[in-house]
Amino acid sequence: MNICIVGAGYVGLTTAAVLANIGHTVYCTDRDATKIDKLKRGIVPIFEPGLTEMIALNQAEGRLFFGANVRRHMMNCPVVMIAVGTPSAKNGSADMRFVRCVVKDLSLVIRSPKTIIMKSTVPPGTADWIDTLLQEYGVSPDMFELASNPEFLREGSAIEDTVHPDRIIIGAKKKETALMVKELYHAIETKFLLTGRMEAELIKYASNAFLATKISFINEISRVCDVFNADITEVARGIGMDDRIGPKFLHAGLGYGGSCFPKDVNALNYSASSKEVELELLEAVMKINRSQLEIYMNKLNHKLGKNRDHVRIAVWGATFKENTDDIRYSQAIAFMKKLTKQGYEVYAYDPLVSPPIPSVVWCSDKYKAVVQADALVIATGWPELIEADWNRVKQLMKRNIVLDGRNCLDKKTMEAYGFELAGVGRP
Ligand code: UDX
Ligand code: UDX
Repeated sequence: MNICIVGAGYVGLTTAAVLANIGHTVYCTDRDATKIDKLKRGIVPIFEPGLTEMIALNQAEGRLFFGANVRRHMMNCPVVMIAVGTPSAKNGSADMRFVRCVVKDLSLVIRSPKTIIMKSTVPPGTADWIDTLLQEYGVSPDMFELASNPEFLREGSAIEDTVHPDRIIIGAKKKETALMVKELYHAIETKFLLTGRMEAELIKYASNAFLATKISFINEISRVCDVFNADITEVARGIGMDDRIGPKFLHAGLGYGGSCFPKDVNALNYSASSKEVELELLEAVMKINRSQLEIYMNKLNHKLGKNRDHVRIAVWGATFKENTDDIRYSQAIAFMKKLTKQGYEVYAYDPLVSPPIPSVVWCSDKYKAVVQADALVIATGWPELIEADWNRVKQLMKRNIVLDGRNCLDKKTMEAYGFELAGVGRP
């Protein structure tokens, strides 16, 4: 099957690579011609384990092509998958500008019947809105079928999540459309749910909202652990042993970030409120995520005392989680900004990124960042940071305070090195 994927971001590129890898001919296109030019030359503009290799293999075997002429590729393929960004607008809703732009382009080139697949995360009602939009742009309704087929991949394990998904959700009006989309994934063994389009759109939002709720829940319990001197990692382990709850997404830390949870929880909330439904639980989930940073800032302030003059904090990790170069809505960066605002000197290190942040000094290696530091904050749980030479860190630092914002260090081991370790919800 010839498939055109519009949007060569984390979602579009991963999906393109995997669909080509299972035998389809995939034309991946993007309005960013520089990005496409790089991809043609084998340069993958994002960091995602295994992606570069899978793209190279499928390019070499003639199944994966990149091109900047979005309209031409859309015109030539019977299947068009939309994977452009749907970022947060100022009012919290999903900004549908890019989707609208693709739909407009598509309307200009539909010469033969097409199956349009919405891969991007979009609010409930989007499929109906696109149907109407295409008709307003003069496309006859018998020239297209639109299916909702949301992605559930996590950055850092995007290939694995796409090759071995927990489920594939396909929302369509007609059974034959759903079956056609299902056929695209013929080589992927998983559970399929063929459902309505509105339901598929909501399954994506509700999944992310539920996962964000789990995180805010465990972060709230970590606050209770703090005051009762209990260890949240043990509490989470015990909770997770109940099959009805499960052990995943119960890792307490500085809060969730990234390009999905913050925007999707917000957008779901916006969609509901536009129909006068108040989502009280999700309001609380977002509130807890915001205040989580405040609580650990106070913890650090308490340990360091009132005088901020020349108090130096090293921050390790800037991405929103490990194994990605994505800094969208990173809690690590939000924490750095809070630190500089409070008057601390901040020396930062991340294995992949060093975005400009006023008053933050980026260091070329993790050990340079801790020289003469009064405290070290672990803001992202990168393996290379966890496995640091802690003897060397101890010798380089001025004081011995480590704030483990991701609960990734072993308390006893760190104390044996002579550190005073403060975790999230750990005595
Ligand atoms: C994005 C959304 O954030 C996510 O919620 C959704 O499920 C899928 O799309 P991601 O792949 O991470 O996920 O976005 P991003 O890395 O920003 O990539 C989007 C790509 O689309 C960019 O390369 C951008 O240049 C391209 N694009 C955007 C177009 O080709 N045309 C447009 O009109 C707008
Ligand atoms: C998420 C969803 O998991 C995925 O299904 C969806 O398609 C896109 O959004 P992603 O944002 O890439 O994926 O990463 P994820 O691993 O879900 O982590 C999101 C944030 O939650 C990160 O900041 C992470 O550090 C944090 N997190 C995750 C926790 O704080 N605790 C946990 O237990 C799990």
